[in-house]
Amino acid sequence: MISPGSIEQLLNAVVIEDVVGDYVSLKRSGSRYKGLCPFHDEKTPSFIVSPGMGIYKCFGCQKGGNAIQFLMEIDNMSYPEAAKALAARYGIELIETGNRDDDEYREKQKVRESLQAALDYAAGFFENQLHDEVEGKTKAMPYFKERGYTYETIRKWRLGYSPEDWEAFTLKATKQGYKSENLELAGLIKKRDNGSFYDLYRNRVIFPLVGVSGKLLGFAGRKMSSTDPAPKYVNSPETELYKKSDFLYGIFQAKNAIKKQDKVYLTEGYTDVITLHQAGIENVVASSGTALTPSQIKLIRRFTPNVTVLYDGDAAGIKASLRGIDLLLADDLNVRVVSLPEGKDPDSYCSKLGGEAFSDYLYSEEQNFILFKAKLLLSECGDDPIKKSEAIRDILQSVACMNDALKRNAMSQELARVCKIDEALLAAELGKLLRSKNLKNEQDFIKEVKQLTTASGIEFPREELTDVHQERALFRILLLHGDETWDENSKVSDFIIKEIKEDNQLLFNDEMCALLVAQIKFGVWDKWPGQSYFTQHSNADIASWAAGVLSSGYELSSAFADNFIHVKKEEDNFKNEITAVFLYLRKKKLDNLIKHYTLLLQDPETDVSDTLEMLNYLNELRSRVSKDIGGVVFTI
Ligand code: UTP
Ligand code: MN
Repeated sequence: MISPGSIEQLLNAVVIEDVVGDYVSLKRSGSRYKGLCPFHDEKTPSFIVSPGMGIYKCFGCQKGGNAIQFLMEIDNMSYPEAAKALAARYGIELIETGNRDDDEYREKQKVRESLQAALDYAAGFFENQLHDEVEGKTKAMPYFKERGYTYETIRKWRLGYSPEDWEAFTLKATKQGYKSENLELAGLIKKRDNGSFYDLYRNRVIFPLVGVSGKLLGFAGRKMSSTDPAPKYVNSPETELYKKSDFLYGIFQAKNAIKKQDKVYLTEGYTDVITLHQAGIENVVASSGTALTPSQIKLIRRFTPNVTVLYDGDAAGIKASLRGIDLLLADDLNVRVVSLPEGKDPDSYCSKLGGEAFSDYLYSEEQNFILFKAKLLLSECGDDPIKKSEAIRDILQSVACMNDALKRNAMSQELARVCKIDEALLAAELGKLLRSKNLKNEQDFIKEVKQLTTASGIEFPREELTDVHQERALFRILLLHGDETWDENSKVSDFIIKEIKEDNQLLFNDEMCALLVAQIKFGVWDKWPGQSYFTQHSNADIASWAAGVLSSGYELSSAFADNFIHVKKEEDNFKNEITAVFLYLRKKKLDNLIKHYTLLLQDPETDVSDTLEMLNYLNELRSRVSKDIGGVVFTI
């Protein structure tokens, strides 16, 4: 065990915003920092770092703790591992007292540690082969030089070489005491039928694959000759440490630049990343030649919402990857593209132009993804009306992926203008698509309000969203009436849980309400556990909160300003009240949207007619919501 004294000393030395800042893009907000929580999916920041207290806290998923706990959570480290990592970073010496083991976890951790050790050893081996052995110096070094890589670049990316010999690494590593089972589990060697082992990477230049926290996860080996019939790359297999679908090449080296420039360039290949870095463009990563996965997108989102995809100039390749980009749109990222001249990839074109000119090219050629897609698809249709309508439907598929109704509208108008298509026609087609995507159904109106208020991308000041009264009233009803019937199919609690789940941005200010909402969203209890679950909860805070909520008169209507007549008999009214609370919470958000657009009008860059139209629309919705709240009958 590490002595409590030295843990305290460590935590005092740690700069928590730096530790967290390696993983999350933080913005200062008063004495604290804010960012998007790395532990759950969110689009408005509810993750806070407080340097004064040395802690982080997410008000969405409720995770929180100090720097050690942060590393344990985000990097799957054990307590001592996290403490040691921090101690090394801040030059603190940890004093150990006694020993503790956590059997199973320790066992698994031990395996991971030995795989890590094997990989680290291998990286050194490959580098050594490149820099110090004749074979590497005469075969691989000229290859890198030919590509224009400087010595610094080769060292920075820890590039290496695996010799031709089938067992060069296997023999050296086992002689050093690394167990062949572990080398195999680390994806470095393979077993023959006769039980002996051979190297996975042979006669290839080596690109180490480094994870977001700087740990080595695996390797890729590229053949050096284009006439060699072998596959171009041999990649690390999936291991305990390397998961291809989670991995973005270059993310560790790029993350600071990505945060700083609030933008990432997405390429396909390892070599694109390395060449652009060498040319001074450091906010670039590669997806390793396959379609983006949701976890890669989540990784990007930790650092920026702005993604620019670099395409090489071959139309077939571009068309194949268009669909994958919809995933980015669906996650509310701002997607732009730059297409490169025919036959050029980022690596070759950047080498040709040089860093500065290539940078200029990226800036001047960047365009919105959907407009780019529209031009590309429509250019192939000529005057054929059938082809054209197919293309339009395809383009609108991408528009329909966007969750934000405002952005969707704007995009559809822009499309009409750029592609010279009738605006009403586009809007009608888009409406059809959205309906078929089940974004709209019988409750069009409520849905529309929810859409506008949940996915507007506008940050609402938390305190203004709700007042605690309303929230507690809702939970009071839930505690009191959760088991009663709502309609033929569901109980009151089912309805409330569904409403909360559907609206991912109903923010609750009351700490305990927020906790319960988070529990509902994360399915901690999908079914209503009943009043006694709360009143008799083993956590004293929850139990006393429940008792407080039940015993006090959080009368709903008193918080409804002047619009409402005082409620006396809650029993008769609670269903109406539930509806009213949800409407009320949404009305507050509409108010904020209206405020936002009214302010926008003062900005000279704003398109006044569009904004006025939106304001009209919002006001219309708002008055309907108010009417509906007003229609709730309160008895005296
Ligand atoms: P590329 O063929 O464009 O390779 O594949 P590259 O890395 O840019 O290499 P150069 O510049 O031609 O030398 C793009 C990415 O697709 C994956 C790799 O991640 C590669 O970086 N890939 C490609 C493989 O995994 N295996 C292959 O055989 C080919
Ligand atoms: Mn390439």
